[in-house]
Formats: sequence, structure tokens, C-alpha cells
Amino acid sequence: MQYSEKVMDHFMNPRNVGEIEDASGVGTVGNAKCGDIMKVYLKIDGDIVKDAKFKTFGCGAAVATSSMATELIIGKTIEEAIKITNKSVMEALDGLPPVKVHCSCLAEEALQAALWDYAQKNNITIEGLEPPKDSDHHHHIIEE
Ligand code: FES
Repeated sequence: MQYSEKVMDHFMNPRNVGEIEDASGVGTVGNAKCGDIMKVYLKIDGDIVKDAKFKTFGCGAAVATSSMATELIIGKTIEEAIKITNKSVMEALDGLPPVKVHCSCLAEEALQAALWDYAQKNNITIEGLEPPKDSDHHHHIIEE
């Protein structure tokens, strides 16, 4: 078995599945190669990420990393939230097999895209936050 117990746990019992209706920011990303899609909703109040939910159409590692990514971001300040990387998500899951690392990158990108959306909606600049790559393209994947 190449998956850690934590990965299996978050795959079988994913935390924070769903959507937030009045989300402060929503990020949708997709991986064109495997076709997996991840959507993250954030509720931000003041400077704090109060809640996070996700919907992932993807492989087991994509589900597990989305679940862990939402767990990690809840309660963080925006400044801390933008520092969550695929590495932090993987570490929190006790690692992923090398062929599954790209799945954790999707989780990182989804968080960043949701934070970017929040910044755009509120006309603010979050220092150190990059615009999501190819976001229009990702939206296409969803709408098609
Ligand atoms: Fe694509 Fe996991 S195989 S996200």
C-alpha cells in the first residue's frame, strides 16, 4: 500500500465537502492532463478564513488533498493562508506517492485561486499572491 493512513482517511471521510453559498472567494482549477477538477469556497471575515468547503471531481489523492487543504486553511489569517503550499498539504497527509504529487499542486492552486477571487471581489491586493494560471481555461473545463 503506497498511501498513508491519513491519505486513506481523508479520501474515505473527506472533511468540508460542499459549497458555501455566500462565499467570499471561490477558486476553480483543473488539470488538463488527468481531467480532475477542484472547486474551493472560502468564507473570510476580517482577516481570518472562517470556513472552507470544496467539491472535487477527481482521483483519491485529489479528494484527500482538498480535504486536508481546507482543514489547514480554516482559522488562518490571509497572510498565513497564502503560504499553504502543496508541500504543507502533503506533509500534513504524511506524504503522497511521487506520481500523485501533481494532485496536491491542484489543491494549492485551488486555495490560491479562491484567495485571488476574494481579493478581486474586494479590490484589495494580497501581498505575495499570484494570479491563478490560466484561470479562464480552467473555467472552460467546468462549463463544458
Ligand atoms: Fe489528477 Fe490526481 S490524478 S488530480
